[in-house]
Amino acid sequence: MQQLTSVQIKEAAQYIAGKIAIKPEIGLIMGSGLGVLGDLIEEAVVIPYSDIPHFPVSTVEGHAGDLLVGKLSGRNVVLMKGRFHMYEGYGPELTAFPVRVMKALGASSLLVTNAAGGINLNFASGNLMLISDHINLTGKNPLIGPNDNELGVRFPDMSEAYSKRLRGIASEIANEQGFSLQEGVYVGLLGPTYETPAEIRMLRALGADAVGMSTVAEVIAARHSGIEVVGISCITNMAAGILDQPLSHDEVMETAERVKSQFLGLVTALIAKM
Ligand code: HPA
Repeated sequence: MQQLTSVQIKEAAQYIAGKIAIKPEIGLIMGSGLGVLGDLIEEAVVIPYSDIPHFPVSTVEGHAGDLLVGKLSGRNVVLMKGRFHMYEGYGPELTAFPVRVMKALGASSLLVTNAAGGINLNFASGNLMLISDHINLTGKNPLIGPNDNELGVRFPDMSEAYSKRLRGIASEIANEQGFSLQEGVYVGLLGPTYETPAEIRMLRALGADAVGMSTVAEVIAARHSGIEVVGISCITNMAAGILDQPLSHDEVMETAERVKSQFLGLVTALIAKM
C-alpha cells in the first residue's frame, strides 16, 4: 500500500488556501444525514471535492461532496460535507487524506461525527453518543507503509484517541442543554453490509456500544498528526437483531433528520469551546 505523500497533501492544501481568506483551526467531518451543520457556516467558501487535487470523490447516497470553509460559533472551521468510506473502494490512506489536508491548513482539533447502530441495550434510536474510544475492526490502517516522519511518529499512541478534555466539555454542554448524552465505544467495520445479529452479539461481548462504517481511519490519521479529536455518534437505529425489523439506509437518514436540532445545539456549542 502506498501512503499519500506530503507533496500531495501540500498541493491539496495550497489549492484550498488559495480560495479562502481565513486559516481554519477546527476540522469538522459530518456523517450520514448530519451535513446540515454546513448550512450554519457564515461566509462559507464551498469547494467541491472534485476540484481539489488528489481528493477522492464521495459516491454514496446521502453524502455530498464539498469542503466548506468559514466561520461557525465564532471559530474558523473547515467542514467535510460527506466523507470517504473504505466500502466505496478507497484505501484507508485515501479515506484519511482530508484529515491530513485539514492539518496542513492549520486545524489543531477535529470534531468527527457519524451515524451508528446502537449495540448497547440501554441505547435508543435517536440518542447521541459521545465516543469514548474506538475498536478498529476494519482490518485496515491508514498508517500502513513507510512512515513519513514529517507527518507523525511510526508508532502513534492511541491511549487517548478521543480527548478527555473535549469529552468533558461535550458532557457539560449536554448537561446544560438538558439532554442525556450517551457515552461509549464505537466499533468501526468495513461494511457496506449491515452486521448480522450474531456479529452484533460478538461486538457487544467485545465491549462495543455502537457500530459504524467510518471514523476509525480518520481518527488514526488525526492522532498521528497530533490533532485533538472529539467524536459524536448519532444512534440512527438499534443494531441488527435487537429489534424485530430489518435495517435500512432510509431509517438512518430519517433518524439523523429527527435529531437534527439536538445535534446542532450540541455541536455548535462544542465548537465554540473547542
Ligand atoms: N451498522 C453499521 N453502520 C451503521 C449502522 C449500523 O447498524 N447504522 C448506521 N450506520
